[in-house]
Amino acid sequence: MVKEISKYKCSECGFTSLTMVGKCPKCGAWGSMEADTPVPVNKKGSVSTVRAAKPIRGLDVEEQPRIPSGIAELDRVLGGGWISGGVTLISGEPGVGKSTLLLQVCAAMAAKGKSVLYISGEESSGQIALRGRRLGLMTNGLDLLCENDLLSALEAAKDYDFVVVDSVQAFRTDDENGWAGSPSQVKQAAQMCVDMAKSSGIPTVLVGHITKSGQIAGPKLLEHQVDVVLLFTGEHDSPNRLLRAEKNRYGSTEELGIFEMTDKGLCAVTDPSKLYWNGNDLGNSGVAIAMPLEGSRSIAAEIQALASMTPFPYPRRTARGIELNRLQLLLAVLERRCGIASRTSDVYLNVAAGLNLKDPAADLAICASLASALRDVPIPPDVCFIGEVGLAGEVRPAARTRMRLKEAERIGFKRAVISRRTPKEEYPMEVIRVASLRELLAIFVSR
Ligand code: TYD
Ligand code: MG
Repeated sequence: MVKEISKYKCSECGFTSLTMVGKCPKCGAWGSMEADTPVPVNKKGSVSTVRAAKPIRGLDVEEQPRIPSGIAELDRVLGGGWISGGVTLISGEPGVGKSTLLLQVCAAMAAKGKSVLYISGEESSGQIALRGRRLGLMTNGLDLLCENDLLSALEAAKDYDFVVVDSVQAFRTDDENGWAGSPSQVKQAAQMCVDMAKSSGIPTVLVGHITKSGQIAGPKLLEHQVDVVLLFTGEHDSPNRLLRAEKNRYGSTEELGIFEMTDKGLCAVTDPSKLYWNGNDLGNSGVAIAMPLEGSRSIAAEIQALASMTPFPYPRRTARGIELNRLQLLLAVLERRCGIASRTSDVYLNVAAGLNLKDPAADLAICASLASALRDVPIPPDVCFIGEVGLAGEVRPAARTRMRLKEAERIGFKRAVISRRTPKEEYPMEVIRVASLRELLAIFVSR
């Protein structure tokens, strides 16, 4: 006999309730409660069919060939290109350029002889064609389908080599209740696309909107349903756009794709160091250059710190581009290990051009920038900093130091500060080896 346990379930966190509520009492999500159809449970819990497990070594598998997207920066993030039957979700804020990027991808693939279908539930064919004409993307082999009924759209998709669904929130499916964009509709729409891709082997891309808090709108499940999740980001006042993989079942999630939005659509940025660093601010106090790794390449990142006397008993600390906790930790290390106190100063730290620094090897440059600001002593413009800083104030070696130095040398730096523990080899530029932060400050930030 089937035992009915609950009537409504939150599609975000799984909370169950006997009554329908607008806001989930557990996770606070609005409109996420849905009728929960109970699954018949076999009382004894016996397994109906027994499947034979196979030894992993006996399986005959081949590396799946990649299908190039025609856009090198995107291929870098994907790990070489699309995979047959793979489903990719590309998410980003409205206006960041998802539709533009995908139209460019579609045209590039069509130009290589693939048959491509762009299904749009948001824009009319006229709008898309107008954008296509403006960007010079009127290629043969690219078809548009503007439709809100996903079932019939996917029926038409079966004969194509590549399919884009823009966006997963814009479609209505018949099987579920609710408006297009409601959690159950989005989940169902995504599942229909996944089923189509898996059964036909067509690489499929779904566009997903994100909410104000940066989450993909719809159930969290969406990210589990697909093979790859890409996040496309950019600041409103800047043409720079960053593409990275949040999840990638077929490759690494470390690569970063860098684009610029121009009047010709999205263009790859070939010299990313120049994007985050233009050399104009060097020589001011509080400015130091880090060489963080972004995926398999290193780029120059300019770190700026400002310290000013505070009128408040609790000084302000703000950080843009690094975590606030990391700023507080490095300030504590500077105070305890090097005697550079900041408790009477407000401290502001900024990584130029909206880059988000996660690489711990940027610690040394952050500390140099903070010390330079707190002591008001500028750092020489020809030096960059590569190393991780520990709680004892020690400087630890960074991974792939040689590669970082090569990039620093290419863009014109003459000297680099690295950890004394970095292997002694020939480096492409003059290196200054330091064991501790104190040693570094004695060279560069002493008055
Ligand atoms: P769009 O691709 O429609 O964004 P999304 O699908 O993510 O919502 O991009 C729209 C923005 O991009 C719009 O504000 C104008 C800008 N844009 C350009 O600057 N240049 C271009 O060539 C195009 C097509 C768009
Ligand atoms: Mg769009």
